[in-house]
Amino acid sequence: MTIPLAAYKEIQLLPSILSADFSRLGEEIGAVMDAGVRIIHVDVMDGHFVPNITIGPVVVEAVAPLVHERGGLLSVHLMIEKPERYLEAFAKAGADALSVHAEAGPHLYHTVETMKALGVGAGVALNPGTDVSRVREVAGLVDLVLIMTVNPGFGGQKLIERVLEKVPVLREMLPEEAAIELDGGVNRENIRRVVELGANWIVAGSAVFGAQDPGAEARVLQDLMTGHGSVW
Ligand code: DX5
Ligand code: ZN
Repeated sequence: MTIPLAAYKEIQLLPSILSADFSRLGEEIGAVMDAGVRIIHVDVMDGHFVPNITIGPVVVEAVAPLVHERGGLLSVHLMIEKPERYLEAFAKAGADALSVHAEAGPHLYHTVETMKALGVGAGVALNPGTDVSRVREVAGLVDLVLIMTVNPGFGGQKLIERVLEKVPVLREMLPEEAAIELDGGVNRENIRRVVELGANWIVAGSAVFGAQDPGAEARVLQDLMTGHGSVW
């Protein structure tokens, strides 16, 4: 599905299914979408780029119809080496946006061009230790930049405050219509602040799916993001 350009500018909560109950994955996705979520974040890990191993195109293919039939989108975060080998497989499986890590290969410009040619949203992700200058040469081409606010590999870690300095710098560097996706350690206490800094696609894994009622928690976080809710 082609992502409407306007969607990159919206403030959106992206629950990460990494922290979901995989034995009830469809139900959990349904619960957050019933709560108003429009974009689901999918963490793909290969045991090389990061120490953990998670899921591949087969799972994307399994969940894509249920997300799409509710008018939703899938933003797939590829924490894998040589991601260009798998772009087509994920696009065919139903991913709407793909993000590759700037650190994952030497041919970032070509990889971004390939994502664009596949018709998916093209994203570049940055590890906490990677400077924003790594995306400068592709800034005019990408649809989103994903800022990792934890070291990639696992859910449930603490947000690294220093990384937040990248958000306003990237806002200046990117075209107005590009999204800044912020990923790692987001919770009730900091979600409003990261939005105020200029990030607009906000990933939350353990905060949503670690809650007793993921749908209710997604509502709370969405209200806090837009300034309509209170932590209390
Ligand atoms: C970590 C992943 C994140 C993770 C976030 O490598 O990229 O998307 O699921 O989880 P929380 O929100 O628990 O930090
Ligand atoms: Zn992620």
